Amino acid sequence: MAFTPSVVPSASVVSSSVVPIGSQVQSSLGKAPNRTHHLHAASLAGIAAVVVAARKSRAQTKSRGGEASEAQPAKKIGSQVWDRTAWITGYNSATTEDCYTVESKDLPSDLKGTFFRNGPAKFKVGKDQIMHPFDGDGMVAAMTFDGAGRMHFRNRFVRTPGFVEELKAGKMLYRGQFSPKAGGWLANAFDMRVKNLANTNVMFWGGRLLALWEGGKPTELDPLSLATVCESSLAGALHKEDSFTAHPRYDAATGRMVAFQYRPEPMKDITKISFWEFENNSFSLHRRVDQELPGFGFYHDCLVTKHYYILSRAPVTLNGAEALKGLLGFKSMGESISFDASKPGQLALIPRDGSPMKLIDVDAHFCFHFANGFEREYDGHLILDIVRVPDFFLGEASADPKPVWETADMEALPESKLYRYDVNPQSGKWTKTKLCDRHMDFPSVNRRVSCLEHRYTFGATSPFPEGAGPLQGVLKVDLAPEGGPASDHWLPEPHEFLGEPVFCPKATAGPGSAEDDGYVLSTLMNGKTQRSELVVLDAQKISQGPICRLPLKTFLPHGLHGTYVPGYVPTEQAIKAAWVKEPTSLGGQ
Ligand code: CO
Repeated sequence: MAFTPSVVPSASVVSSSVVPIGSQVQSSLGKAPNRTHHLHAASLAGIAAVVVAARKSRAQTKSRGGEASEAQPAKKIGSQVWDRTAWITGYNSATTEDCYTVESKDLPSDLKGTFFRNGPAKFKVGKDQIMHPFDGDGMVAAMTFDGAGRMHFRNRFVRTPGFVEELKAGKMLYRGQFSPKAGGWLANAFDMRVKNLANTNVMFWGGRLLALWEGGKPTELDPLSLATVCESSLAGALHKEDSFTAHPRYDAATGRMVAFQYRPEPMKDITKISFWEFENNSFSLHRRVDQELPGFGFYHDCLVTKHYYILSRAPVTLNGAEALKGLLGFKSMGESISFDASKPGQLALIPRDGSPMKLIDVDAHFCFHFANGFEREYDGHLILDIVRVPDFFLGEASADPKPVWETADMEALPESKLYRYDVNPQSGKWTKTKLCDRHMDFPSVNRRVSCLEHRYTFGATSPFPEGAGPLQGVLKVDLAPEGGPASDHWLPEPHEFLGEPVFCPKATAGPGSAEDDGYVLSTLMNGKTQRSELVVLDAQKISQGPICRLPLKTFLPHGLHGTYVPGYVPTEQAIKAAWVKEPTSLGGQ
């Protein structure tokens, strides 16, 4: 499809005529401070998921509890404690790949399926230190629940060509987006080769298991053994130059899977966008829509409603001078992006039928992740639940000899909170409402209501009632109660950190079941013992904590995203028959 010029509404108005859910309408335009500072985002080619960042004092705009820039023991604010030293150990590399079965009478009998999760898990290559988690090679773990008290575990690094090359060489061969190679600027100058990290998410679709990273193509894995098959064009749907998002969306109304790619072209001051729709559980392509968005942009996640694909366009620009330093090897390329909070953010409404898109000005913000979006039946408004970050900063790794997790002030990060944007796609009028005071990310809903009206959102939350901090516990936001949204959460011990919580329906759940009739699965990293657990919570009783904790033999670092596949229950015999020990040693931490 050819370039279609954008249709930009003449004015963006914060409407007060629409009654938002929850509290008051918030006027937002004009509140943003008029300043530009350098932000250190991921890359021209790929940016991964969760905010794990170092905020340097020169860029610091707010602070809870002051300096906190060096590794330090448990930190106490109010009644909550988190153990920073333990948290840092979540960035030790995984050093084992294994396959085994764990038994527990606490495993629910109506939990039948497989939980796959991905995340960067290699933070040193030989002696070379990875400086930012986004630069770490992906490792996938799979946990199959048989409904008879047994869980079959296996984990394996994704053998991308770059991973294999570096493992053989025993050193970094590719500069990371935040991690220059050893050898100073000369070794890094003009080196724009990209290693597919396959570290962000995992998708099970059309019988294939795919490790996702938005800077490149999916990598297909064997779902039994997790052995790497090959980089995939998804049965020919992806062209040679295409990449593929780490955040596909599942359209429950049509059964289709929607995915996208973005490719900034700074010389033309545009960003090319493509959307694909795949038929239900297949790689048969229903449609592809190509568009161009103005300016430089990067897009980690999207929303899909009945008529639109939706992207959030943050007011970011590519700083030419900084990009040149990146090209010359003085900086990582990730340090070349500026966020201008004096400019509006925009929502790009891209019709699924390929008709002209609209850009709607909203308040300046950045959004890594959306929870869900849908079109309200009675007035056609777009209801978009966004994890909104008012400011944006990803870390400044190459200027510091230490990796970002050792210097990050997690409590000085921009707060990341769940908001509902109510947008009239015809007039461009919009309102926004905060749905929960807690700092959160990794939002998800029951896939049964994906792209449809939902009631519950699950996510990961910091240990503080309002402030930023490391993601540590589980949060559930309920939109329906009288008097506005309510939330429920559970936090583990100060030295324990949960990964992304993933909702999974009970095997017995039917169309008439409650939307939250199921479990929340996550992995827990114990920073004192360097052991991990699989935790299962009753999705209707989050604050009561796990109903099952399964200790693993395997250490899983802080991960990124995962997916639950209901009903995919290969037998222990099939998994063990497929398991092959890789011939190469993974090296140390
Ligand atoms: Co993400």
